[in-house]
Amino acid sequence: MSSVKKIGVLTGGGDAPGLNAVIRAVVKTACNAGVTVLGLENSFDGLIYSDMARPLGPKDVTGILRLGGTILGTVNRGNPFAVPIETSEGTFNYADRVMEMFHKIELDALVCIGGDGTLGISYEFYKRGIPLVCVPKTIDNDIVGTTSCFGFDTAVSFATDAIDRLHTTAEAHRRVMVVEVMGRNAGWIALHGGVAGGADVILIPEIPYEPEKVAESILKRDELGARFSIVVVAEGATVKNQGRIIVEAAHGGHAERLGGAGKACADALEHLTGKETRHVVLGHLQRGGAPTAFDRALATRFGGKAVELILRGQFGKMVANNPPDIVPIPIGEVVGKTKTVPLDYDLLQTARALGVSFGD
Ligand code: F6P
Repeated sequence: MSSVKKIGVLTGGGDAPGLNAVIRAVVKTACNAGVTVLGLENSFDGLIYSDMARPLGPKDVTGILRLGGTILGTVNRGNPFAVPIETSEGTFNYADRVMEMFHKIELDALVCIGGDGTLGISYEFYKRGIPLVCVPKTIDNDIVGTTSCFGFDTAVSFATDAIDRLHTTAEAHRRVMVVEVMGRNAGWIALHGGVAGGADVILIPEIPYEPEKVAESILKRDELGARFSIVVVAEGATVKNQGRIIVEAAHGGHAERLGGAGKACADALEHLTGKETRHVVLGHLQRGGAPTAFDRALATRFGGKAVELILRGQFGKMVANNPPDIVPIPIGEVVGKTKTVPLDYDLLQTARALGVSFGD
């Protein structure tokens, strides 16, 4: 019999389709096991400001399975430990305040749903004594230890649909269409979306590219009679021996904001091929909207497993997809690491064998 009577649930970092499905699964599973749930708003802010925690019961989560975003709100604040927190009750050290409030509102454990930043913050609080379980979240699919995260399938489906649409207009005008997708450090969305959409060129952060090689592959397609090309570029893709293209430098613990890789690629290709070239940026459209069936099921499994681990007293763990199972892995094995696309990944090799250019 578990001694856990009351848990908090929070969502941190950038959103991803499926967050609400996790919240729903956590609330329903916990309540059915006789555990009270407090929804903490805007990530750990719910443990800082006394008016940002609210009870959640099954009725509060009815109908949210299919909704994008998060009913709890989220923040992405870089390193929150770095700055003091101003509240109506005074100024506090961030970590001290969270610890104090966790006990004050009589929580027994936390479910922290988030990406690498939230995993890192949660791990700090776990080491300071908060019993917690993490649920990994990223559309980029770059969290180690789990084969996939909810949100990734939705993002890939959206990118694939966009590429399908670009195909028809590219072919009609015999143009090169460049589509920039998300993927800071890893090219999972570009690779999976690119292959599913039948892209001719896929540029990912793991393989710095040479614009001349990409141009060559486009002109070769022209020779074969295919007078249009689709190029998928991850936002973190780089030209060989050059840095990433950013719109805002890193500051105050915030990572640099990426953007412009698609435009830079399109400009270079127009110049090198002489072909009319257009670019589109899918951006946050990939993070919005309803999660796919796969992501709803994965998110639900993650949420259910997180509560199961809490009831069994297995803290300091992240739930992970290890088909066919959802398994617990120590958070310490995950934080600070990035799961990039292995160069011998079969989908990458298959794409190459099909004639897709990676610009290398
Ligand atoms: O980590 C997911 C991600 O989608 C990245 O690919 C992207 O660089 C980042 O979030 C953008 O986040 P935001 O604009 O919300 O800061």
